[in-house]
Amino acid sequence: MLVAPSMLASDFSHLADELKKITDGGADFVHLDVMDGAFVPNISFGAPVIAAMRPHTALPFDVHLMIRHPKKYVADFAKAGADIVSFHVECDDDPDEVIAEILSHGVKPAMVIKPNTPAESVFPYLDKLYLVLVMTVEPGFGGQSFMHGPLLKVRQIKEKNPSVLIEVDGGINAQTVLECARVGVDVCVAGTGIFKAEDPAAVIRQLQAAGR
Ligand code: DX5
Ligand code: ZN
Repeated sequence: MLVAPSMLASDFSHLADELKKITDGGADFVHLDVMDGAFVPNISFGAPVIAAMRPHTALPFDVHLMIRHPKKYVADFAKAGADIVSFHVECDDDPDEVIAEILSHGVKPAMVIKPNTPAESVFPYLDKLYLVLVMTVEPGFGGQSFMHGPLLKVRQIKEKNPSVLIEVDGGINAQTVLECARVGVDVCVAGTGIFKAEDPAAVIRQLQAAGR
């Protein structure tokens, strides 16, 4: 299992140190949660903060856009150093146009589905996507409890397109990751589980070992 620590749970006053911690700890991606206060009832950080983090690690940046209009901001996140940009199927833009915009900047496109959105909603786009992110909490806040129901969608998406990577996000810890590994999840995001732990590197290794 690949592991993407979510910076949302890190200490924002020491971002460089927090990035070093997870880089030295062997993380696979850095997960960056962008919230606009409209698509979700919370505001986090945007492209300038991501650009400031970029020099502090060589790990791929996995940018999760929880914003109503991703299309017009894709260029900013590409310039800030995003390697993967994911946007919600529930956003207010046309998904084909957002994917085209992401590809035009040489970034890997990904789509996200909320817990109550059916897997079928991403089927028309799978051939163009690098990754599908299946939310296991309602987006907007870190530290929520893991929802089991959305895992049913992992197999449905894999059956439709075995080559697209599946990522899960929300409430992932040493226990819930095992369930994710069983259904074939490739990447897990963990915020609280990693950054609030006494030994973040040990948690990263434990999550990575799931499914091996
Ligand atoms: C929620 C975010 C998640 C969040 C996960 O809207 O997309 O990435 O940071 O946090 P934990 O691991 O604490 O549930
Ligand atoms: Zn996220």
